[in-house]
Amino acid sequence: MTATSTGAVGREHPRLEGRDKVTGAARYAVEYPAEAVTYGWAVPAAATRGRISRIDPAPALAVPGVLDVLHHGNAPRLTPDVDPELFLLQEPTVHYRGQFVAVVVAESIEAAREGAGLVRIDYDTVAHSTVLSEHHPGLYRPDKVNPSYPTDTASGDFDAGYSAAEVQLDATYRTPAHHNNPMEPHATTARWQDGRLLVQDSTQGSSPVQATLAQLFGLPREAVRVVAEHVGGGFGSKGYPKAAVVLAALAARQVDRPVRLALTRQQLFGPIGYRTPTIQRVRLGADAEGRIAAICHDAISQTSTLTEFAEQTAVYTRSMYAAPHRRTTHRLVRLDVPTPFWMRAPGECPGAYALESAMDELAIACGVDPVELRIRNDPAVDPDSGQPFSSRNLVACLREGAHRFGWAGRDPTPRARRDGRWLIGTGVAGASYPARGLAAAAAVTAAPDGSFEVRINATDIGTGARTALWLVAADALAVPPERVRIRIGDSDLPPAGVAGGSMGTASWSWAVIRACETLRERLRDTPGGTLPPDGLTAEVSTADEVRAQRPLARYAYGAHFAEVRVDTDTGEVRVGRLLGVFAAGRIVNPTTARSQLIGGMTMGLSMALHEEGVLDERYGDWVNHDLATYHVTGCADVERIEAYWVAEEDAELNPAGVKGIGEIGIVGSAAAIANAVHHATGVRVRDLPIRLEKLL
Ligand code: MOS
Repeated sequence: MTATSTGAVGREHPRLEGRDKVTGAARYAVEYPAEAVTYGWAVPAAATRGRISRIDPAPALAVPGVLDVLHHGNAPRLTPDVDPELFLLQEPTVHYRGQFVAVVVAESIEAAREGAGLVRIDYDTVAHSTVLSEHHPGLYRPDKVNPSYPTDTASGDFDAGYSAAEVQLDATYRTPAHHNNPMEPHATTARWQDGRLLVQDSTQGSSPVQATLAQLFGLPREAVRVVAEHVGGGFGSKGYPKAAVVLAALAARQVDRPVRLALTRQQLFGPIGYRTPTIQRVRLGADAEGRIAAICHDAISQTSTLTEFAEQTAVYTRSMYAAPHRRTTHRLVRLDVPTPFWMRAPGECPGAYALESAMDELAIACGVDPVELRIRNDPAVDPDSGQPFSSRNLVACLREGAHRFGWAGRDPTPRARRDGRWLIGTGVAGASYPARGLAAAAAVTAAPDGSFEVRINATDIGTGARTALWLVAADALAVPPERVRIRIGDSDLPPAGVAGGSMGTASWSWAVIRACETLRERLRDTPGGTLPPDGLTAEVSTADEVRAQRPLARYAYGAHFAEVRVDTDTGEVRVGRLLGVFAAGRIVNPTTARSQLIGGMTMGLSMALHEEGVLDERYGDWVNHDLATYHVTGCADVERIEAYWVAEEDAELNPAGVKGIGEIGIVGSAAAIANAVHHATGVRVRDLPIRLEKLL
């Protein structure tokens, strides 16, 4: 940071918009006032694969207040080939059950909902395939995996290294479909005015929404404005425009009035994307002291018939632990299902569950402490790229965590600790997540009254990003934060990337700092220090600087420690303690950072013990598509949870020195719990979630 820093960064601060949120003053996507507003209700397909043979809107149109029913026969036309997922209401084809095939627009939400239940749709159906299996005949090798990693990697000779190893571990882990459930559903208010499309949208990034809507509707980018001032969570599902915003824009054009459209809770289970189920085979070959010679991770996941989504499940294994012989592969199958999408730490999270479970199994097989096993296999350079790490503090996290948790002296024997009916166990897991930065632009204006306004189209999805950028700007301007105003969440502001991939604060603060530095130079050059009445503005983009970054392996790291107890009669698992230590560069705001980290750890608990999309093969859809039947961890499931971080100065990241903390909290968390369950019970559950009957 700058020499004259005011020390705002690193100080605890509540969210700037916290009061507005708890008093209801903060506006979410469907809460903006709109004159003569109407309501849209999406209609999902009841068939799994086939075509609509007939659609009869008459009973819906007969409901008082219903204005129109949009479907493939009458909806405004969209540009083809932008994104097959968003080519909505254009064709009679049905690709998966729950795909949106109509929208009812009405004067009231009640009328829209009633109408939606009355649209009569007949289908011609054909047989569907919706179950992922390692024996599926449709398995294929995608050209790359997300976002642009090679599909397979190999170095050394895995087969030779593995067969020569003293200790061999070969285990297959399975994770089910997981569904994002942000508090605010996907929701949009859309209106057309003088050929311009304005949407208030619940999104993780309004710049991509603006670009995609412009393409879909054949408009210049400037003709679309996307506002996302407050967003009630996304977890990846809002990282790119999905159905709701497109349906709202189509409906608003059709009825020529503003339309509010929010998906229902049940409609979030599928059409917005979900975490793909995975089948992961991990093989580790080591010597008797636990030094790994050979490491292989083969991952299988699913995509839809609409478009290819190839999750990077095994990528975590490429860079995490040292071994001369290594291989990773990804295979995919196209099923008649909704397209999977990002869910917090896509790829790394399920991948780490498998690898960090396998490391625990290897530690037991070698008779080496699982913390020590990880330290012993810490690589000096990135085993995948051969590049140096910008900083790698996994070992520091493991040591600090072991110390805080009280790991020393642990008896590794399963079922050794008991408290009445409860068996008690402890487990550990490592974690890493890439520390990336995206190009962004930011503007800052110095006003004659001594205040500053910072503008950037960043998005705060509830994480505290707005507050973090405000603190960063104050330090970069060397003024007290009270003199700085920050504006985000509007595509009319300088463009910036999504709140995703744990890249938000790194990318945005980079642009904000550079804009502030440029402004300070100009202020120094201002004769007499008097500013023009409309102030002095600097606007910069980091595109060149981001592109010119040195090639280095940049990752955040973490270590999770868990204590569980398992009821010997019922198999119930309770998590008594979760402790995480992270190395994520500079922590801008400890208040919101801790909140993000324990949020991620809690989602790992949810993954370990609760979350599972249960597919009904007959319909190719999930049976449990609400919060009553799809179990998400609640506060009562978290007894004691602690997040800490080690001091880390990394000059090879970005000017703020941050690595991002959006996702590192969930990576490895589920494995630590699964490992603790094994320690408690002696039962190794390799298919999540760990439900009680699997322990009895
Ligand atoms: Mo996160 S799943 O990269 O929004």
